[in-house]
Order: sequence, then C-alpha cells, then structure tokens
Amino acid sequence: MRRSHLTIITLCSFIVLVFACQKDTPRPEERVLSLPENVYRYDSLNGQVSFDPFEGFQVNNHKATLGRVLFYETQLSINNRISCGTCHKQAYGFADNVQKSLGFMDIPTDRNSPAILNAGLQEAFFHDLREPILDNMVLQPIAHEVEMGLEDPDYMAAKIAKIPYYQELFSNAFGDSFISRERISEALVHFIRAMISVNSKFDIGKETNFVNFTEEELVGKELYFHGLPCSSCHGGNNLNGGSSAAENIGLDRWYSDRGTMDIDPVSLDSMNGWFKVPSLRNIAVTGPYMHDGRFRTLEEVVEFYNSGIQHHPQLSFMLRKNTNGGFFFLGEDPQDTYMNELTNIQPLRMHMSETEKRALVAFMKTFTDENFLRDERFSDPFQ
Ligand code: HEC
Ligand code: HEC
Repeated sequence: MRRSHLTIITLCSFIVLVFACQKDTPRPEERVLSLPENVYRYDSLNGQVSFDPFEGFQVNNHKATLGRVLFYETQLSINNRISCGTCHKQAYGFADNVQKSLGFMDIPTDRNSPAILNAGLQEAFFHDLREPILDNMVLQPIAHEVEMGLEDPDYMAAKIAKIPYYQELFSNAFGDSFISRERISEALVHFIRAMISVNSKFDIGKETNFVNFTEEELVGKELYFHGLPCSSCHGGNNLNGGSSAAENIGLDRWYSDRGTMDIDPVSLDSMNGWFKVPSLRNIAVTGPYMHDGRFRTLEEVVEFYNSGIQHHPQLSFMLRKNTNGGFFFLGEDPQDTYMNELTNIQPLRMHMSETEKRALVAFMKTFTDENFLRDERFSDPFQ
C-alpha cells in the first residue's frame, strides 16, 4: 500500500475515534429550565459603592432573564455541547480554571478565558481590545470556529425559535415572540451589563476606612498603591486603570501572540506584546493568569513582577528602572531600535521580601466578591 494511503486511513480512523470518544453530554431536551416565579431584579445592586457600575445603562429585568437563559444555552453551539457558561464559570468569576478552554469540538481556544464582570466600566473587550462595542461582541463566540461553531446568524435565530420556552421569554422581554439575532444579542448584553461585582472586602473597606482589614492586608494595600507601580495600571473603581488600555509588561522578549497589533502613533511601529490591562476584581478565583494562562497562582504572578520582567523595546515605562524618554526611537530600523533599547532598558526589579510578597497576595484576595460568585441571578438556570 502506498504511504499516502496509509496516512489517509490512519487519519480517518483518528477522526472516527475522536467522534466516538466525545463526552456524553445530556441531550438538550433533557435539561430542564427552572426560572423564579417573580423575575429577578437585575437593575439593582448587590452592594453599596460611591460610583455607578451600570454607567447609566438601564438594565431591563426581562431582557436580562432571557440573556441568562441564552448564556447557559448549549443549543447556541452547533453540536449542542457547550454554552457561554462552559468557558465562563460563575465559581471562577466567569473565567475558566484551565489555561485554554475547549471549544465545541474539544479544540483549545487561542487564549485564556477572561473573567466577565462590570462590562459597563470597560471600554473594549478581548485581550487585544479588538471589540469596543459589547453588542457586536456577544455574538462573536457563537459564530467562532473554535468556540461554538454556529456561523450562520439566521440559522442560529431559527434554531432558538424552535425551542418552546423561548416564546414566552422573548414576549416578556420584547413584547412579542419574534426571534432575531439582534434580539439575542440585546438580551445577552442586558445580562452581561447586569453582572456587576462591587461587594468585595476591598469595596467594603473603601467605605469603612479599612477597619475590616488584617495587618497583612494593610501592608499589601500600601505596597499596591504606593510602594509598587501596581495601581498605576490596576487602579480606579474597577481596578483596571479606569479605561481599557493595553500595556506591554515584559512577559517575553519575543511574543508569539503579538496582542493588540495597533500602530503606535509616535513611532508608526506596530505594537507588540501589548495586552488589555485586566480588572483584578475576583482575581483570586480567575486563574490561570495572563492572556495565555501561563501562571497558575497569584504567587507566580507576583514573582514574575518581582524578578521576571523581560527586556522588551516596548516594555511599559512603569515597569522600567530607567527610561530614555519617548516610546521608541523615531525613524530607526526596528531591529536597531530593539538592540539599542535592549542595552538601555532596565526592567524594574522590585526586590520584595517574602513577607511583602505574601502581603501583596493577601491584599489581592480582598478583591473577591463572594456574593457575586454565588448570586442566584447569574447562575445556570438549567437542571
Ligand atoms: C470555548 C470557550 C468560550 C466560549 C464558549 C465563550 N467564550 Fe467568551 N471568551 C473566551 C476566550 C478565550 C476569550 C478571550 C478571547 C480573546 O481575547 O481573543 C473570551 C472573551 C470573552 C469576553 C471579553 C471579556 C473581556 O473582558 O475582554 C466576553 C464578554 C465573553 N467572552 C462573553 C462570552 C459570551 C456572551 C459567550 C456566549 C455567547 C462566550 N463568551 C462564549 C472563551 C469562550
Ligand atoms: C504597565 C501596567 C501594569 C502594571 C504597572 C502592573 N500590571 Fe498587572 N497586568 C497588566 C497587564 C497588561 C496584564 C495582562 C497581561 C496579559 O494578559 O498578558 C496584567 C496582568 C496582571 C494579573 C493577571 C490578571 C489576569 O486576569 O490574568 C495580575 C494578578 C496582575 N497583573 C497583578 C499586578 C500587580 C500585583 C502589579 C504590581 C506589582 C501589577 N500587576 C502591575 C498591566 C500592569
């Protein structure tokens, strides 16, 4: 037999095997939807803060209820196997506890699943900030060839229209039971906009002069806001710097995933290694960390900032020891610039003691909002 034939046969048996071995997920009809008698209030806050985490957005309780069902709807994937909630799990702050989540065909995603919270306080989505508009964002995972694989939006709407419980949910939300991609997107947006987390120990501390903090947490807080540059990027109401900016934190000398890929307006170089500054809310439960999930624990992240920041020509100035002013050297060959900068850039070395590292981690654990992680309103309504 020719070698190529053998290869084809091996490949075919492999594909057959993959299909045969797929996990037995319950058929969609076997999942029973259970919603509360009276619709949940999504337009009110669980917690008290001095800013408006809705950013003026009026959440409609019926639209958010529909959005919740859609968020956990496995029939939004082409083979009815996974939902948004498969990769964005409530117990992990709506992130996933694996480095790369598996899509509908068990193929890993390119990046680590980020936490979902306080969308109103963010200006753009995805690790590379490529989508500024939430309404455009929410349907993308459904159509994505690795994530949910339901590429045709009309087929998606038709599929949802065939499921009996959606008639009433759409009527409650929109006044009639017409089902369209726009309405599916709108409902998901209302649910995601309602996913607000502002009830952490840190939030309560801010309102009460931190009398609820331990000695160690106070030491960590001081380091975070004053001793170290953390809050220059992860500060503000949402612990994400107040806007959704991208930064290069020197994870690598060469980035295989280049991140934002925007063009820097000063140097006209393409940005490399710039990723979204994430909110650190619920950070203790959203690991693994970074766009590629390379760090398993907060201790590993802290050790990276302490001693592991790499030389990189586009390393953020906040993470350099010395700066030469300006972003890059105008008009220089990128390779020259790289070499030139390499000799001049000194990545910051933080020289933290073991006690300080532990305090910083303890402080970041105060960002956990237990209510949010257990809030019924955001839980899986299928049983
Ligand atoms: C197979 C896993 C998977 C599924 C299913 C999935 N996501 Fe995601 N989600 C990801 C990954 C990975 C990213 C980051 C992608 C990137 O940055 O390029 C992401 C990013 C996001 C973000 C951006 C968060 C931020 O702060 O930038 C939101 C919001 C989101 N997903 C919502 C959803 C919704 C809504 C659904 C269902 C319609 C969904 N996801 C389905 C894996 C998944
Ligand atoms: C120059 C801005 C900047 C500074 C200063 C900074 N960070 Fe970050 N941080 C980022 C960016 C950008 C990422 C995301 C990188 C990625 O996804 O690859 C990040 C990621 C993280 C993460 C992982 C978040 C996640 O969801 O995966 C933690 C934890 C963190 N930083 C803590 C800190 C601490 C603690 C300090 C201070 C010692 C600090 N950061 C200083 C920009 C910064």
